[in-house]
Amino acid sequence: MERQLFSKILSLPQRIRNRYGKRRDIPEYVPLALVPPKRKIAVPSAWAGLEEIIPDILDRFNVGRKRCIEFGVEFGYSTVILSNYFDRVIGIDLFEGDLHTAHKGDHYLRTKESLADFPNIELHKCSYQSWIERDQDQYDFAHVDIVHTYKDTYRCGLWAAEHSTVTIFHDTESFLDVRNAVIDIAKKTGKSVYNYPHHYGLGIVVSV
Ligand SMILES: C[S@@+](CC[C@H](N)C(=O)[O-])C[C@H]1O[C@@H](n2cnc3c(N)ncnc32)[C@H](O)[C@@H]1O
Repeated sequence: MERQLFSKILSLPQRIRNRYGKRRDIPEYVPLALVPPKRKIAVPSAWAGLEEIIPDILDRFNVGRKRCIEFGVEFGYSTVILSNYFDRVIGIDLFEGDLHTAHKGDHYLRTKESLADFPNIELHKCSYQSWIERDQDQYDFAHVDIVHTYKDTYRCGLWAAEHSTVTIFHDTESFLDVRNAVIDIAKKTGKSVYNYPHHYGLGIVVSV
């Protein structure tokens, strides 16, 4: 209860920016096909609905299907969606919730149990900050859905964009800070950026 109130106070400037800040344009991503995945799990998530455009993104940008990395797993909804399309999915999360999540408190074991039937998912309970310090690998695909501040999205997303063919970012419509970070990452890396404006928004940063 106290933590919820603290989060509300801390995120007040961000909520004001969301309401009154200037929205920079991003070209819209229009999928040619919406394809439901074979497997998904019934856990709470604001990501629901986005699963249907993932195959379209992978086909359009010729994304390899070997290695995917995700920052921000929470209960595993998006992680399972991604596990339909890659040989291996690495999920990084503190599993403690953050300023913006409804759930606060350790949920690592709960998520681990929910994902027990997906052997190609590998969970790591650690911060994105410590992960990106030691990982030099390249990935076919990356997903960034951590705490929705400009600073964290930019830092984690820049690493992801530099280490993957395509990086997607959730919440470009609901958080101006995420939208701005995504635009600035594309500029910094010389990549293109698109936005799918449904289900709270999905930013897509890609080399073409
Ligand atoms: C919006 S949720 C992810 C939702 C998930 N992608 C889904 O499909 O529903 C954000 C997650 O980011 C995690 N997180 C926040 N800050 C983090 C950090 N610095 N390092 C790693 N994970 C972090 C939180 O613990 C939380 O589980």
